[in-house]
Amino acid sequence: MISDYLVIGSGVAGLTFAVKIAEKFSDRKVVIVTKASEDESNTKYAQGGVAIVLNKEEDSFKKHIKDTLIAGDGLCNKEVVKMVVNEGPDRFEELLLWGANFDANDAGKFDLGKEGGHSEYRIAHHKDITGFEIERALLTRAHQLPNISILPHHFAIDLVTNHHIEGKDPDDLCCYGAYVMNQNTGEIFTIKSNSILLASGGIGRVYGHTTNPVIATGDGVAMAHRAKARIRDMEFIQFHPTALYDAKGESSFLISEAVRGFGAILRNGKGYRFMPDYDERAELASRDIVSQSIDNELKKSGDSHVYLDCTHLDMDGFMAHFPNIYEKCLEHHIDIKTDWIPVVPACHYLCGGVDVDMIGKTTIDNLYACGECTRTGLHGANRLASNSLLEALVYAHNIYKHLAESDNTVKDVNIPDWNDDGTVIPKEHVLVQHNLKQVQAIMRDYVGIVRSNKRLKSALKHLDVISSEVEDLYKESRISTTLCELRNMISVAYLIIWQSLERTENKGGYYNLDNIKK
Ligand code: FAD
Ligand code: SIN
Repeated sequence: MISDYLVIGSGVAGLTFAVKIAEKFSDRKVVIVTKASEDESNTKYAQGGVAIVLNKEEDSFKKHIKDTLIAGDGLCNKEVVKMVVNEGPDRFEELLLWGANFDANDAGKFDLGKEGGHSEYRIAHHKDITGFEIERALLTRAHQLPNISILPHHFAIDLVTNHHIEGKDPDDLCCYGAYVMNQNTGEIFTIKSNSILLASGGIGRVYGHTTNPVIATGDGVAMAHRAKARIRDMEFIQFHPTALYDAKGESSFLISEAVRGFGAILRNGKGYRFMPDYDERAELASRDIVSQSIDNELKKSGDSHVYLDCTHLDMDGFMAHFPNIYEKCLEHHIDIKTDWIPVVPACHYLCGGVDVDMIGKTTIDNLYACGECTRTGLHGANRLASNSLLEALVYAHNIYKHLAESDNTVKDVNIPDWNDDGTVIPKEHVLVQHNLKQVQAIMRDYVGIVRSNKRLKSALKHLDVISSEVEDLYKESRISTTLCELRNMISVAYLIIWQSLERTENKGGYYNLDNIKK
């Protein structure tokens, strides 16, 4: 198959780019491959909203920039922060034009929420299901454009680069497309394209306990790493402070930070409000600080969770803004009006990823990346809440603008078909599941909120054993989605551990006991 633009992923990043480029060139073909149903993505579950300076009377670009830089703990790229924040209102305007709805207040202005690390109310939202609404609007627009083809249940296995092509210098980094598997038939085919956009999202599933859905297995980061793209800042995993605690460890439901912005407070098992002891911003300190504080409380008490207390809040206002959270808690027999919500930190967001410049170019020619799979320099050591939907919108636009002005001729290369000679249908599914659980346990136990060099090195040793077993399985077996995902998660786990060991100073979301200054 040949396409003008190949997009891997149908979340906010992939869809925004696809819609823009397809609107601009009705004669060019955009193919989106996506490994689950077309709407399944981290985007779909985003709750809080999009951080944008809309209320210019009280807020300003300067304040949003300052908040982002403070959260990033000195490691943000200031130029990038400025560019993203300044572009926010224009990108938001486009979302509205595509039909996304955001809540308004009685005065007819956007109802803006507040989240940790923000000095002003600036989170535009659609109740507590903002991501669902954005995904809906973007998919509706994409379906109106006949030059976009969305291929659901199609899994991108690997990027095609020079090392696949006879006669090409493998050190000359260039991408020509991807090997893709139709998950319904098992057929593996090549999609050739001059411009490839990785928009494959996050890595949450590498940790067992996460707010991310099952698609978040870091495939894009792993593929780019195999293709020798530069990957950075993988040590900065953001743990969200308030995932709903589930004794079985299965729930990944998020209690939005906007709930704390609405006035909810955190209490330990004794009912004590502990956050003011850690930071003057209390519950609205940035996420890294709140998660580390909860972790400390849990270690001191031996408890499994802390509580989020909403019982003092205006319940009519709460229900209007957070109906989904209210209902979900009820399903767990928690009535927010009278009960405290048991919460615990969970892996939520990858601040690092595939390194890109300000127009979304990776270190591989023809390969662009956008959204959560990237490291743009916006987040530094810790992402400011609700800055990621914004980042995806802005970078999708920048990549679109750049490609709209670039030569789009598909390169004349002879890509070999996928070769699975000598492989057999895997009989060892149980091995894949077992190894997945082991990887998740290693990451949770040795590479969590608080790390140490000893724990990181132990993690590497355990991972080596699993990795060699999985590589053998991969060489012998006919490809399956679960096996590819496991292999990708192992690559991501290695990157997180290696880059953690390289960081000798604690910053933002990275905290290593061996780096504490004596
Ligand atoms: P995604 O939306 O995750 O999309 C990735 C796509 O790639 C999916 O379609 C997936 O199926 C596909 N894919 C992955 N691998 C492959 C493969 N191998 N082959 C084919 N397809 C593949 N951010 C905010 O700014 N504000 C919020 O309020 C907010 N709330 C959040 C709440 C939750 C519960 C979660 C999990 C995240 C939240 N975030 C929020 C973060 C934000 O939602 C994500 O960072 C953002 O949506 C990522 O968008 P994306 O397009 O990069 O990736
Ligand atoms: C939330 O609603 O707490 C999530 C916001 C985010 O991850 O940016």
